[in-house]
Amino acid sequence: MRFDKIVRGGNVVTPRGTSVTDVGIVGEKIAAIGPDLDGSPGAQIIDASGHHVIPGVLDVHVHLELPFCGTVSSDDYRTGTRAGARGGVTTLIDFAIPYANESLSQAADNWMARAEGKALIDYTFHICITRYNEHKDQIKGMVDRGFTTFKEFMIYESEGWQSDDRALFGTLEKMNEYGTMLLVHAESSRVLDELIERHHTPALMKEHGARLHRMTRPNFIESEAVQRVVTWCEATGGQLYIVHMSTGEATDIVKAAQSRGVPVVAETCAQYLVLDDSVFDREDGHLFACCPQLKKPKDSARLWEGLRDGEVSVISTDTCTFTREQKAMWEGDWTKIPMGMPGLETLLPLTYTHGVLKDRISLEDMCMKLSTNPAKIMGLYPRKGAIEVGSDADLAIIHPDRVHCVDCEIMETNADWSPFEGWDLAGFARTTLSRGDVIVDDYAVVGKEGRGKWLPRTTAGLR
Ligand code: URP
Ligand code: ZN
Ligand code: ZN
Repeated sequence: MRFDKIVRGGNVVTPRGTSVTDVGIVGEKIAAIGPDLDGSPGAQIIDASGHHVIPGVLDVHVHLELPFCGTVSSDDYRTGTRAGARGGVTTLIDFAIPYANESLSQAADNWMARAEGKALIDYTFHICITRYNEHKDQIKGMVDRGFTTFKEFMIYESEGWQSDDRALFGTLEKMNEYGTMLLVHAESSRVLDELIERHHTPALMKEHGARLHRMTRPNFIESEAVQRVVTWCEATGGQLYIVHMSTGEATDIVKAAQSRGVPVVAETCAQYLVLDDSVFDREDGHLFACCPQLKKPKDSARLWEGLRDGEVSVISTDTCTFTREQKAMWEGDWTKIPMGMPGLETLLPLTYTHGVLKDRISLEDMCMKLSTNPAKIMGLYPRKGAIEVGSDADLAIIHPDRVHCVDCEIMETNADWSPFEGWDLAGFARTTLSRGDVIVDDYAVVGKEGRGKWLPRTTAGLR
């Protein structure tokens, strides 16, 4: 067989096992996996000796150029996808959110237009249902257009995004009917509103500043909402995916539901695994405001356990970048801090350094949580998510222990700060390949803007 490229002699992680071998690429696809593949005539040889070769990462929870909290998140499809590539991410899934009177289809068009001509890596969208009565009859049309995952938020009334129990229940029924999946941001809005109102006084804001963010979001804000939507999932049989799960209590609820056969899966994000809410005691603590907010070390420990034991299926980022200037909009009132943090560039390095190198999960488990599971759950497997013959040649080549210090000055992410500034992390991509193209070489982005493709889907969920 004649190969266009051969990734030579790396420690290759495949579903059939991990070994030092070669990966042969023809066009956009993986054509062979095996030792000593023949490079003649003229195959480009990419030396991977002394490196791990892993499937390209899928970050399935990303917000680029999102109008939110009175501003627009600062990473767009150019900077966001370059950041992803540098962190070994080869596929991302963003959220298309309808505004004002828009239909689901118009929302998808808007987000497609943001990505086209700018994206360096492949992408698609979860379609957000924000006005159930109007949108419910549009869901099937979106499935026919190639969108098979939908999203509802249990909070964000002021953004116009909130869904009530009726919407959650009805949408889950439709997910069951169409074989599609509903992603849910699960936080308990009414009690949260009450806690925010009680604390929203000049005296408390002066005394506690950004700490009020953690003080008004106790763990039961998440766990009550997870319990409720799991109940609707069990009642309807519709496939449910809990996004950005941050608490030990919610992890226990998901585990118990899964053991009863309820079709629910859960994602956590890297920040909930490696940071905790003591950051709000820092002078710049407001920068870390995100939603749900960071929790306690015991929650992180439970999430790591859930990744090991299986109740947590996916690690993503919830990338929603804001600059220091945008974060400064709060002016002492925590309810006005734009919520979200950069993440795409550091997802793999954080998981590798704090998961694999600290023996919390194996290299193979990491590939499962960052690539294979997200691809399967989101209906992109086997095209994405594994190093297998016939799959897209999406690969990340990482050095086992070479560290880079996180420095926002040299990062691709459009932010003048990083939650991980000064951290030494291994696992940045020395080389990233997307559909056979080298898009990161020697840790620098070399791929062409706009080469990323939209990924239509026909299925979703693990069933
Ligand atoms: O802080 C966050 N997570 N911002 C993005 C919106 C969301 O809830 O995912
Ligand atoms: Zn959310
Ligand atoms: Zn999000």
